[in-house]
Amino acid sequence: MAYVVTEPCIKCKFTDCVSQCPVGCFREGANMLVIDPEECINCNLCVDECPVGAIFPEEEIPEKWEDYIELNERLATQWPEILVPKEPPTSADEFREIDEKRHLLEESAWDESKV
Ligand code: SF4
Ligand code: F3S
Repeated sequence: MAYVVTEPCIKCKFTDCVSQCPVGCFREGANMLVIDPEECINCNLCVDECPVGAIFPEEEIPEKWEDYIELNERLATQWPEILVPKEPPTSADEFREIDEKRHLLEESAWDESKV
């Protein structure tokens, strides 16, 4: 079991979750974070920090977002660590109320040089 970042994170990426994780298991993509299931110790500290409720323990994920288990597992091996919170993207407030965002996910890793 591990904790999993789901759809509400896409284009919001507030990164408050990162400040709580004692083992540094968040990984950063272009417009979303994921959790490395190999590193997560299931401490639950990140869940209440997320302003959009994007993080769930694996066994409590809403059915419509179950594919995010595989997505976190896969992308965590491709994206870099993020250990310190940062300013959210300018899109964050606009997208926090939008439910269907799966098609907006960019699977590329975060790249500072493209900012
Ligand atoms: Fe990190 Fe704990 Fe959240 Fe897992 S549950 S991602 S260890 S803060
Ligand atoms: Fe995403 Fe919520 Fe963290 S929006 S970056 S899971 S605080």
